[in-house]
Amino acid sequence: MSDPEIHHRAVESLLEWFDSRNRDVPSRGSEDPYAILVAEIMAQQTRIATVRPYFRKFLELFPTVEALADAEIDQVLKAWEGLGYYARAENLHKTAELVVSRHQGSIPSDVEALRALPGIGPYTAGALASIAFGQPEPALDGNTRRVLARLFDLEKPKARDLENAARELLAISPHHPGALNQALMDVGSTICLPRHPSCEQCPLNDPCLARARNTVADRPAPKPLPPKPDRHAAAAVIRKDELLFLWKRPSGGLLGGLWDFPHVAIENPKEAAAALEATIKSEWGLSISVGKKLQSVRHVFSHFRLQLELHEARWEGGAPQHEDLWQWARIEDLPNLAFPVAQHPLISDLVGTRRS
Ligand code: ADE
Repeated sequence: MSDPEIHHRAVESLLEWFDSRNRDVPSRGSEDPYAILVAEIMAQQTRIATVRPYFRKFLELFPTVEALADAEIDQVLKAWEGLGYYARAENLHKTAELVVSRHQGSIPSDVEALRALPGIGPYTAGALASIAFGQPEPALDGNTRRVLARLFDLEKPKARDLENAARELLAISPHHPGALNQALMDVGSTICLPRHPSCEQCPLNDPCLARARNTVADRPAPKPLPPKPDRHAAAAVIRKDELLFLWKRPSGGLLGGLWDFPHVAIENPKEAAAALEATIKSEWGLSISVGKKLQSVRHVFSHFRLQLELHEARWEGGAPQHEDLWQWARIEDLPNLAFPVAQHPLISDLVGTRRS
């Protein structure tokens, strides 16, 4: 199949398929740009099924852009309660105010003016321009990009390549840009899935180049993972007689809720002792003297690699200032406490040395 043929077949199949299915996207069938705006903002980061009841209630409460602009933000947030990403509600409210104050109450139809409104990025601007105003503008997100990369078998498409591909399709059917974009969205979110695409059910099965070449699973090619930076830190195993000082990592953060030895980020291992003594004094109010290195451990986190130097240290004086977040633990109790896996070898050593 030649390229122009692929384009024509794809557009024809997509529009036919879109016409024949009646997916219950809340704003489908509406020609009211305000209703379409509300639906598109709600659909950002949110499944269509979740959006439906919110959309209905929202339009009952705020049936026009003027009604929304006049509403108190608290009322708007209340109507959004449970839908998440509440900045969307604030932005939508601001957008309504701007539409009333700057655009005489009419939502602008061109992409540039739409993008100037709060909460409207390139994808939503393209969706609105095409669905509400019939403009041949692409609406590219992860789903529609994947469909296009597979349809044209593009291995490492640049943003430009995909935009051009979408524009070429839109140029074939200038009368139905909203239907074409929504067909691509629906194919991307229900059929042309990243891992388990249902090619047999896909309206693009016939023209799809990736399917013909058996490259669907590799299109678009996965992006190489960003390199993980190396970080260095030193930790102090502080002894006070038979007890060791532990702190509890804040919940919600990295390794949150686990017990750990206090540590400090360092650039150079030579700084370890001085950095530990100064930081543990200022953060915990403990005076310590740092001794020899006990172990060096590596830990790979999702975003970086950590090289951690564990040093023995002696408590010289002072008491921690925080409550609840620390303890002096007996060595034999360490196996009962939850620690980061990277510390397990040290803990085994400490407990083993004590037993032997
Ligand atoms: N996702 C966001 N907007 C959509 C729409 N109009 N149709 C289908 N999926 C969407």
